[in-house]
Amino acid sequence: MIRSVIRGVGHYLPDRVVPNSWFESFLDTSDEWIVSRSGIERRHFAAEGQLTSDLAIRAARAALAGAGIEADAVDAVIVATSTPDLTFPATATIVQAGLGMTRGFAFDVQAVCAGFVYALANADSLIKSGQAERVLVIGAETFSRIMNWEDRSTCVLFGDGAGAVVLERATGDGTNADHGILATDLHSDGRYREILQVSGGVSASQTTGHLMMAGKEVFRHAVDKLAQTTTDVLAKAGLTAAEIDRVVPHQANIRIITRTAQKLGLPMDKVVVTVADHGNTSAASIPLALSVAVEREQLRQGDLVVTEAIGGGLAWGAVALRW
Ligand code: UT7
Repeated sequence: MIRSVIRGVGHYLPDRVVPNSWFESFLDTSDEWIVSRSGIERRHFAAEGQLTSDLAIRAARAALAGAGIEADAVDAVIVATSTPDLTFPATATIVQAGLGMTRGFAFDVQAVCAGFVYALANADSLIKSGQAERVLVIGAETFSRIMNWEDRSTCVLFGDGAGAVVLERATGDGTNADHGILATDLHSDGRYREILQVSGGVSASQTTGHLMMAGKEVFRHAVDKLAQTTTDVLAKAGLTAAEIDRVVPHQANIRIITRTAQKLGLPMDKVVVTVADHGNTSAASIPLALSVAVEREQLRQGDLVVTEAIGGGLAWGAVALRW
């Protein structure tokens, strides 16, 4: 049976680190509030002129180096982002050219914070259907460009960054002991689109707009839907939450991460947490956390790993894989 295996992981964070205290200078907020409500202590912001594709290319190069392959050995580049360089072309094509690739195909996936999970599931399908042997799957964002700096309930939560993985075709025996992606589970429900959206866009207003979020409502959906998609993706692979070695969740809020783990009966030492250092980097958060987990030696060969995310749409989902 064809399996998609992660061969390399990498990430890139812009140099500028912004501590919570920075917001105290222009907003009625405090480090204490931000840490206690979200778990976020600092985040990175891209420099002026530094674009989503710049972050993506740096992360991609690190993932390629980790996999020990050249960019031209890649058949497809998928960039999950809600903060593309331009309205078109796809940021993925800018990344493709930036990596010096002269072959293959490239496209973006727009599923907001669930973008990386969506991109990984689509890359798995491309590999399983024979359309690609190696896919570079990238999550990259510059959310600092869509913040409303007068809205303290949102602008303190987000950061910029990028993470990437090289996914490669392998052969397994079809059991859940195989390495690679074992199952994927994707959902969206557009009835809830207004609780997390951007106030502008090409067709609606010919502006970029700013992020708006009904935080409490998103929070309520998040815990239930993340626990459910994790349970469902494991069931598809004939597994249960008790068998998980590591969860690599979307890093939006430590309270969402801990409550979801509690709901699944998972101790926190099985959960990779980076939210304190990165804030919410939307589609970049999971590949960033995966890459940091590799650096921290939190992932061992054979581990059952689940990634799960939810964001604007609402769109959510999970991927179960064996490391
Ligand atoms: O990545 C996509 C998914 N996104 C998420 O998962 C985010 C989900 N939501 C959340 O993480 C949380 O709802 C927040 C962190 C956004 C907010 O936490 P909360 O515990 O739900 O707080 P709240 O919105 O109920 O606000 C409590 C109070 C309010 O004041 P009053 O009305 O009680 O007087 C807010 O105005 O905190 C106030 N507040 C702040 N105070 C200081 C809101 N933002 C701030 C702030 N500093 N930055």
